[in-house]
Amino acid sequence: MTAQLIDGNALSRQLRAQVTQRAQALKQHGITPGLAVILVGDNPASQVYVRNKVKACEDTGMHSVLESYDASMSEAALLARVDALNHDPTIHGILVQLPLPAHIDAHKVIEAISPAKDVDGFHVASAGALMVGQPGFWPCTPYGCMKMLESIGYDLRGKHAVVIGRSNIVGKPMAMMLLQQDATVTLCHSRTTDLKSLTLQADVIVAAVGKRNVLTADMVKPGAVVLDVGMNRNEAGKLCGDVDFEGVKAVAGYITPVPGGVGPMTITMLMVNTLESAERLLSNRAN
Ligand code: GUN
Repeated sequence: MTAQLIDGNALSRQLRAQVTQRAQALKQHGITPGLAVILVGDNPASQVYVRNKVKACEDTGMHSVLESYDASMSEAALLARVDALNHDPTIHGILVQLPLPAHIDAHKVIEAISPAKDVDGFHVASAGALMVGQPGFWPCTPYGCMKMLESIGYDLRGKHAVVIGRSNIVGKPMAMMLLQQDATVTLCHSRTTDLKSLTLQADVIVAAVGKRNVLTADMVKPGAVVLDVGMNRNEAGKLCGDVDFEGVKAVAGYITPVPGGVGPMTITMLMVNTLESAERLLSNRAN
């Protein structure tokens, strides 16, 4: 079997076209969805990520502000900026790019973001809302994975989903989203014994560890759906995921490539969350 590709670029184009239309509709009501992105320091990967986020806003007709600060910025000064953006009516989403310099407590900064503008979905209020199935913002990467499953019409009810990686940003919220769709979920991590025996039982596997070849062909049940969240580089410097793509695609039913899989979906879901934040404002106004 050769797996079918789930194309994150193509799905992103579709979803971003919808975001563009909905943003246009909001403008009729005098609201332009706005995202503020804060970058502290000069991490080259972060610089690329924030540039892509700002460009995606421009492409979908949303307003964006990029605030770049020196790595020496104090925690107090950053908290003051977040507070100002919380009160800025032109801003519907606030994103503080991680990682932050070591002298700044990232948790404290995330908790300072108003949950109503927490489009990254990292605030404990957002995590709690996801946990109990209440409206909030879902973290963009696992949200993008759910959209990819939806795009192939995949019914998760009663299926066994194995998530590899227990980060607060991907693994844990991913498990909650799959559970909400009635999958039976196994959340694996670095201390899991016999990972292979678990992945071999899985109908859906999400690899989100940040290490190459975490999932190889011998670990995958024929026909399984494999979503690769990894972003690594091989010896030649080429971008690759956590999954041995060439090997696994011969066994899986569906697979996401890297690049061009989950990566573009993460930014797309950030646009969706920002748009929805602005739409909620309008519906609150109407009520
Ligand atoms: N650093 C790497 N990925 C992300 C992300 O999705 N959001 C933020 N804020 N920082 C990141």
